Amino acid sequence: MKSVTVGNSAWRYVERGQGPAVVLVHGFPLDHRIWSDQIEGLSSQFRVIAPDLKGFGQSHSIEPFTIDSMADELAQFLKAVDAVPCVLAGLSMGGYVGFSLARRYPEFLKGLIIVCSKAESDTPQAKEGRIAMAELARSQGAKPVSDQMLPRMLSASALKTRPELVQRLCGIMESCPPETIANACLAMRGRADRTDDLPRLKVPVQIILGEHDAIIPADMGKKMASACQRGECVLIPDAGHMAGLEAPAAVTAAIARFVDGI
Ligand code: MLT
Repeated sequence: MKSVTVGNSAWRYVERGQGPAVVLVHGFPLDHRIWSDQIEGLSSQFRVIAPDLKGFGQSHSIEPFTIDSMADELAQFLKAVDAVPCVLAGLSMGGYVGFSLARRYPEFLKGLIIVCSKAESDTPQAKEGRIAMAELARSQGAKPVSDQMLPRMLSASALKTRPELVQRLCGIMESCPPETIANACLAMRGRADRTDDLPRLKVPVQIILGEHDAIIPADMGKKMASACQRGECVLIPDAGHMAGLEAPAAVTAAIARFVDGI
């Protein structure tokens, strides 16, 4: 992995291919490996950059953060690796960071791809769940958090019939540092609602959703896309919240077509 200094810490990232910059931002509690298939598939056409956000994967840090502060650091990272402007694809928590970056640094983006994510903030019930999960991570580590998340991350059929995929995903989730899990739970809990930003986004926006996503309902994707000036929604059949892992070719093809059209 490559490394670049952003503020006071090292951001590690994977970079492959040449052409227009496509930046892939992972979700929670994950790292760049969740994008492995897309890195492989997209790098024949584009310059693909997949960072480990600060605190995740190999970008070690135990500093608390907010979704907005992470977007600020991501903006610095994009400058440091000379990837401005880019098309940014954010998966779930990465989508929250993407929305924040689009609001704070609109000139950094040529297009925004929101993968299995939403503009809305947490409900009061979800906020309570974040505190409980942060405490669980701090007291018992990443494994019980991974166990709790797993049933909502993949479709029921993948959970039943694709043990290698389950193992791959659990391996990534269980390696997330507990302090980062806690910090991320609190950051997601405190994030702003970006629904009103959707009609203000000037760049093309693609919303990708898994048909069986247990975290983001499919009709939410269509609503988000139609609220944007230049929005489209792509529903990935037979896939859950980790659509890019369950249906890698379909997600890669959707991203490639969208970036090509910009
Ligand atoms: C993610 O996949 O990044 C998380 O599930 C997002 C969330 O919990 O809101």
